[in-house]
Amino acid sequence: MKIYKCDDCGAVFELVVEPTKGAIEGLREVKAGEVDGALEKHVPVVEQDGHKLIVKVGSVAHPMTPEHYINAIWVEFEDGTYVKKALTPDMAPEAHFCMKNKSGKVTVYEYCNLHGLWKTEFTLKAE
Ligand SMILES: [Fe+2]
Repeated sequence: MKIYKCDDCGAVFELVVEPTKGAIEGLREVKAGEVDGALEKHVPVVEQDGHKLIVKVGSVAHPMTPEHYINAIWVEFEDGTYVKKALTPDMAPEAHFCMKNKSGKVTVYEYCNLHGLWKTEFTLKAE
């Protein structure tokens, strides 16, 4: 999963198709952890309960206000596919995902509108 940002206007994009040549003009790739922020409020905390993957941001709940909130949480699988939950400020900073028929390692990302992209790794438990 790749996230790009326009530093001029602040818009953030998920990449669906890789560019066939060079960089994407005017956009830069956002890397996890590149913005200073409290680790305990941004690094996703992942638990598995049967088929359910529970992702909380973070070990201390991240604020959810219109000025500062978690925009989205993604779970990326080893084959590059991913599932996403978009959040709004009136929601809790967490998401639940169904992992039925899934296995292996996942990378869990979250995007904070002020502190950017954060991630953690998790190995799905066999059922
Ligand atoms: Fe934040």
